[in-house]
Amino acid sequence: MTAITLMLGIETSCDETAAAVVDSERHILSNVVHSQIAAHTPFGGVVPEIAARAHLDYLDNVITRALSDAGVTLMDVDGIAATGGPGLIGGVIVGVMTAKAIAASTGKPFIAVNHLEAHALTARLTAPADRPLEFPYLLLLVSGGHCQLLDVEGIGCYRRLGTTIDDAVGEAFDKAAAMLGLGFPGGPALESAARTGNPKRFSLPRPMVGRPNADFSFSGLKTALRQAVAGAPSDEHSKADLAAAFQAAIADVLVDRTNRAITMFEERHGSGRSLVVAGGVAANQSIRTALAGLADRRGLTLAVPPVGLCTDNAAMVAWAGIERLTEGPADTLDFAPRPRWPLDQVAASAGAKA
Ligand code: KG4
Ligand code: ZN
Repeated sequence: MTAITLMLGIETSCDETAAAVVDSERHILSNVVHSQIAAHTPFGGVVPEIAARAHLDYLDNVITRALSDAGVTLMDVDGIAATGGPGLIGGVIVGVMTAKAIAASTGKPFIAVNHLEAHALTARLTAPADRPLEFPYLLLLVSGGHCQLLDVEGIGCYRRLGTTIDDAVGEAFDKAAAMLGLGFPGGPALESAARTGNPKRFSLPRPMVGRPNADFSFSGLKTALRQAVAGAPSDEHSKADLAAAFQAAIADVLVDRTNRAITMFEERHGSGRSLVVAGGVAANQSIRTALAGLADRRGLTLAVPPVGLCTDNAAMVAWAGIERLTEGPADTLDFAPRPRWPLDQVAASAGAKA
């Protein structure tokens, strides 16, 4: 390995076909994301079979573009990192097989990255040069499939402080947007509808708020929204007000649960650390603002990656590959793609690799 590690990252776990080249000095040399939204929109959600086929159709081109945007060839990179799970298994297989084929033909190391770990470490890639993000930090991971609060103690070293007992936040946003007829993908559509809405006109519950643990639940909020939608006029004004009420309820829940987790985190690590927010929902501006207020009140530094690196991308996968390769050996080519891969078992799983 050269002093500066150059990593090709590949992301295919949901509906973005993505490739990127990142170096160990935290430069994103290229970051290509091909969104499949148009292919899934007629179905109102991601169709796994369509996603897997689309990854197969687009991935080679996306990788070629990522390499040429970065001005490098496959022979220049020091490793190939691909999302190895969790995710839609057809897509994960496409990314992993492609990465393994490149690794086998070039003799470069292959790293199977946990998609959640990639989200979790992104803020270390994007932290300002004069303020690097050090371990441990508290992570609020909010995406389409996950809603967790984690104590990030190091690479592969995660302690779960709270999780959802039903839906993930992104999923709740997507379902709420569908109820309001706002289309797909729901999160950005609901955020934009909420912009002109009055969050106080409709009153929605704040599930789990005040509970002593740091868990989440969103199904009651979803049901309450369905009832509110049924009882409200169907004009654009009301839609905006309902969207705003829903978004405000989610923000309140995230703030309360994170507040609890800060206390749990500080019991172990003391005060003055960082709160990191990651995953697609971290792109939401009003949630960012609410969490910034909380971090300020609790004396924590808030670190949120730029919007384009909160939603799925391959730069985060390449970066996680660099972090993993710095800490230990690469994976072997018999790594089996994983539809499920809980983050707090990353350490245990990593022990099984070569
Ligand atoms: O991390 P991500 O791109 O994919 C997963 O790994 O799940 O997250 C996608 C989720 C979707 O549920 C989407 O609706 C949500 O993130 N999302 C948002 C926003 N942008 C994306 N939710 C709320 N506000 C947004 N601006
Ligand atoms: Zn994701």
